[in-house]
Amino acid sequence: MTSHLLSLQDVTIKYGQIEAVHRASLDVPAGAITSIIGPNGAGKSTTLSAISGLLRCTGHLRFDGQQLHHQTVEDRVDAGLIFVPERRELFTSMTVADNLQLGSYRFRRESSGRRTADLEAVYALFPRLRERQAQLAGTLSGGERQMLAIGRALMCRPKLLMLDEPSLGLAPRIVKEIFQIISQLRAKGVAVLLVEQNARAALEIADTAYVLERGTIVMNGAARTLASDPKLIDTYLGLPSEAR
Ligand SMILES: Nc1ncnc2c1ncn2[C@@H]1O[C@H](COP(=O)(O)OP(=O)(O)OP(=O)(O)O)[C@@H](O)[C@H]1O
Ligand SMILES: [Mg+2]
Repeated sequence: MTSHLLSLQDVTIKYGQIEAVHRASLDVPAGAITSIIGPNGAGKSTTLSAISGLLRCTGHLRFDGQQLHHQTVEDRVDAGLIFVPERRELFTSMTVADNLQLGSYRFRRESSGRRTADLEAVYALFPRLRERQAQLAGTLSGGERQMLAIGRALMCRPKLLMLDEPSLGLAPRIVKEIFQIISQLRAKGVAVLLVEQNARAALEIADTAYVLERGTIVMNGAARTLASDPKLIDTYLGLPSEAR
């Protein structure tokens, strides 16, 4: 019996003979922000890739009441499991609007009304994308690209949105803006699994968090509790930002 939207139990992920993630177990409740933090090479992106179906794994993976093991990437997208990888993978020579429309490609047989409403909802969340709807994606700033990547994922009507390092390479002010939008998504009922090296920012908005080190979950709990944990402060939170 579980009310979790996503749960991983004893998940092990290998690249050839090398184990990148070892027996990880984690739960992502509906309507909350769950974060995975940890240093370079800990296995954070690997974990998201396995959940999205891009990598094989052993152990148990359940999403929205279904076992995921035999489900393809497309099946998982259809179920509402949407992944925004670290490389934002935009169509750089297409406009902002076309990139967003492509996000709703799988709803193309629906009447246009609902898809237009989806687009309006994205523009309401990201007014900057509305202003730049005719601009080519390749000419957007880093922050705008991240907004577009999240906006396009929202066009897929996610139940769970998995974000890999949305703050990467962005100025603190833009990070703040993106993180505020992530909080708004939670308020709209979208669950978020947020992978971040920027542990401080992640713990500020997450409800619960997991700390991954060298492929193993070494700590987990309420984000607020972890943010004041002395060991975590020493390892991840004590450094001035320019030292990271
Ligand atoms: N395609 C691959 N083939 C072999 N090993 C890989 C591959 N991709 C990742 N790895 C290894 O798996 C481990 C985990 O990598 P992963 O990218 O998941 O880390 P991460 O926590 O996302 O790190 P970062 O914060 O730098 O993004 C690393 O040791 C990495 O070198
Ligand atoms: Mg990574």
